Formats: sequence, C-alpha cells, structure tokens
Amino acid sequence: MARILITGGAGFIGSHTCVVLIEAGHDLLVFDSYINSSPIALKRVCKITGISAIEVNQRIQIIKGDISNKSNLDEIFKKAKEEKREIQAVIHFAGLKSVNESIKRPLAYWDTNVNGTANLLLTMESYECKRFIFSSSATIYGKPKSIPIVETEKINPINPYGNTKATVEKILLDLSRSDAEWCIASLRYFNPVGAHPSGLIGEDPNGEPNNLFPIVSKVAIGHKDILEVFGGDWPTKDKTCIRDYIHVMDLAEGHLEALNYLLRKKSEFLTLNLGSGKGHSVLEVVKSFEDTIGEKINYKIVGRRPGDTAKTIADPTQAKKILGWETRRTILDMCSDSWAWQTANPNGYKTGTT
Ligand SMILES: NC(=O)c1ccc[n+]([C@@H]2O[C@H](COP(=O)([O-])OP(=O)(O)OC[C@H]3O[C@@H](n4cnc5c(N)ncnc54)[C@H](O)[C@@H]3O)[C@@H](O)[C@H]2O)c1
Repeated sequence: MARILITGGAGFIGSHTCVVLIEAGHDLLVFDSYINSSPIALKRVCKITGISAIEVNQRIQIIKGDISNKSNLDEIFKKAKEEKREIQAVIHFAGLKSVNESIKRPLAYWDTNVNGTANLLLTMESYECKRFIFSSSATIYGKPKSIPIVETEKINPINPYGNTKATVEKILLDLSRSDAEWCIASLRYFNPVGAHPSGLIGEDPNGEPNNLFPIVSKVAIGHKDILEVFGGDWPTKDKTCIRDYIHVMDLAEGHLEALNYLLRKKSEFLTLNLGSGKGHSVLEVVKSFEDTIGEKINYKIVGRRPGDTAKTIADPTQAKKILGWETRRTILDMCSDSWAWQTANPNGYKTGTT
C-alpha cells in the first residue's frame, strides 16, 4: 500500500476518491485551501471509512494550504522525507472548475490551474516523486468532430477553463518526454454527478451551481423555483443537450485503478477518457429524477447557452483496455444518490459540524 498526496481532496471528486483509496488500504495526505469545499467533507470521509481519532494522522493527514504557495507544498514533501514516509504518488484535483467564471476571471484560472500545477510538479521533481494523476476534462475537446469521442480527437478548447486543462496536458507531455521516469495519467472526466450512497458526502459548490444535477436537486428540494433548460432546438432525439454522466463513485474507482496501474509502472504517459459511453438528454435526467423522488420537477426551455454543444459522449474503450475499469452505476443510481445527499444535507455542509 502506498502513501498518496491528494490535492483538492476536500472537494467533490476528491472526497469520494479519498473514501475509495482509504478503503483500498492507501494512506493519504490531503491538501486543500477549502476555497470551494469544507473541512467537514474530510470528517465525513473518516466517518464513512471508519477511521478513528487515533488513526487519523496515520491514514489521513489533513493539511490546509494553497498550491499557489510553493513553500506550502515543499513543507509537505520535506516532512514526509524527514519522517521516512515518502509520498509515492500525487493525485491532483485542486483547481478552479467553472467554465463561466473562467470567462470572467481568466487570470485566476491560469494562475491556479497552470501555475499552481507547475509549482506542484516542480516540488515533486525536487523530491523525486514522479507518479502523477491529473484531473483533466472533456472540455478540452471543444466541439468534437465525431461522437463518441476518442482520446485521439483534436484538442480544441473553446473557453479559458478548457485552455488551462489543455495547457497542463502539454506540460505533462513535455515532462514525460524530458524524463522517462515520470509515470503520468491525465484523466479526462466527462460529467461527474451523484454522491456517496451514505448521503454523507456530495457536491456542494460555493455560490450558484451551474451544473444540471445540483440545479435539479435544488429545484426538487424547493431552494430554486425552476430549472432552465438551455435550448429546445438541438439536433437530438428530444431536442435537448445530451451528456455522458458518470457517477462520482465510478470516477473515484477509476482513480484507484489508474493509481494502482502507475504504481506498477517505471515509465508511463497516459491520457484516458473517464466516462460511461452512454448519453442522456436533459429531459431524460429530469424524468429519472422525477421517477426517483416521485414528484414533478418544474422546468422551462430557454435559449441556448453560448459555447454549449448538442452531444458529448465518451468512448471509454481505452480505460477499459488499459485499466480494466468501466462504469457500473446507472442514471437512476446517480439520481437516487444525489437525492439522498440533498435531502440529508439541504444546505450542503453549511449546517453540518461532523
Ligand atoms: N466536476 C466536474 O464536472 C469536473 C469535470 C472535469 C474535470 N474536473 C476537474 O476535477 C478537479 C476536481 O473537481 P471537483 O468537481 O471535485 O471540484 P471541487 O471544486 O469540488 O474540488 C476542487 C478542490 O480544490 C480546492 N482548491 C481549489 N484551488 C485550490 C488551491 N489553489 N490550493 C489548494 N486547493 C485548492 C478546492 O477548495 C476544492 O476542494 C478539478 O481540477 C476540476 O477542474 C471536474
């Protein structure tokens, strides 16, 4: 079993991945600034995995810090070296993730997502830690020519967020070409949704959510009046956009497989789609949600949102071939787990203490 640094581990995907890695026996160092998350998520991770107060520092060490601050990162690696409990790999979730916000604040996105990642890679290099998993995104494909999207599709981002992810992928490729000891996996996520089935951890972004699942949940629980469906004139079966939704627990398991794969390797550079290979339209998601909660969701069709595409579906063949990983959970699992999280935590982590 290995000792792994998880940046952004208190966030949505990071917290679910922490659960899966701890359950698989890995020891974690979790590093987060909490700019878009809450420390309560990590308390809940301990609760789910049954980590007692005594075990906490052994199994999951929690460090508050910012990837923009190189000395914060240096301290972690230095301490691990002094303790002779070296970090064997890093899973890098920390970053800013809103497409809309990236259009308004591009400098913040380039600084955190690109400079922050470069700080981390420089620190890793100086401590000879060369196994790295990066949170990339299907956004880097922009408007792909063919569906389902294969990894060889042209990288053609159409917004600042996508540009930052595509740039980090270029840095990683250059790095792996410069030094064969690096073992790198860049995982291109499609649309992560859902929550841990316990209802203890889930998605709780600061500010207004702009993804479909959190908005549908907010409408269902009465915190939002209506769901706006962007565009009812797309060239799809029911004229609404189609996306490849992936349950966050499937995604977390994908990270475990990628980690275990890299730990066995001496040299590697992988770019893999993590998606289900299935597409669901907005109205299909609404219907699945209605079936889950037994009530109607109030929605209205409005104009298209700039930058949207009709259909995004992954070809996940490579991830299955290389990692032996594929998604197991259905759209109904995604709806029922999101709903369990939403009803147990109507205000997210804001009112919780443990
Ligand atoms: N959720 C998605 O739809 C999606 C899709 C594709 C890729 N991704 C990428 O996956 C990663 C995780 O996404 P998520 O949905 O869990 O997002 P999230 O915002 O819930 O998690 C990101 C975490 O990083 C932390 N963070 C942000 N800036 C930081 C900094 N400078 N220093 C330290 N910590 C910092 C945040 O506090 C948060 O806990 C991100 O890099 C995101 O771009 C997400």
